[in-house]
Amino acid sequence: MVKKRACVFISGAGTNLKSIINYSRDYNFPININLIISNNKSAKGIYFAKKFSIPHKIINQTRDQFEKIAIKELRNRKIDLICLAGFMKVLTKNFIRNFNGKIVNIHPSLLPKYKGLNTYKRAIEKGDKLFGCTVHYVNEKLDSGKIIIKKRVHIANAETVEKLKKKVQVEEYKAYAIAIRKIYNLN
Ligand code: GRF
Repeated sequence: MVKKRACVFISGAGTNLKSIINYSRDYNFPININLIISNNKSAKGIYFAKKFSIPHKIINQTRDQFEKIAIKELRNRKIDLICLAGFMKVLTKNFIRNFNGKIVNIHPSLLPKYKGLNTYKRAIEKGDKLFGCTVHYVNEKLDSGKIIIKKRVHIANAETVEKLKKKVQVEEYKAYAIAIRKIYNLN
């Protein structure tokens, strides 16, 4: 199969990045990771770019500068799909329009519930029994684009943010892979 060319945007630990890289090494997975962009020079995830010899770019400028440089890199490397994975900057409308329908994000909640930050804490405090993660297309409204897939986990009686995050992340890795296959009409 001719693989699509993807870029992953990160800001932190990069465990979703690591998982997507592992999936992408399979011949039958529809994308290769051809670029990694971090807005944070201390992001632990940059390690995976080095480990797997994937080109990476650290852009820790203002948002406008960040986007200008990122757009140039993405065009130069002919990127077809942008996967946001723990990327903590909000992208501008202009950037999103440039890559319309080609940006996806993973969010730790069952959207449309709990958009934004501190989702684990908010769900536990509300007494919810079900939680999870969502992979969705990125549009101009925060955490509001078309949903590709959700994965559920149960919130235990004495749940903590740390434990819940761990449980959700295991599902995130699977959800992102399923979503990427789905984007390219594969099961
Ligand atoms: C993930 O849990 C994701 O839901 C959220 O940020 C976290 C990033 O984790 N958007 P990692 O950097 O992939 O380990």
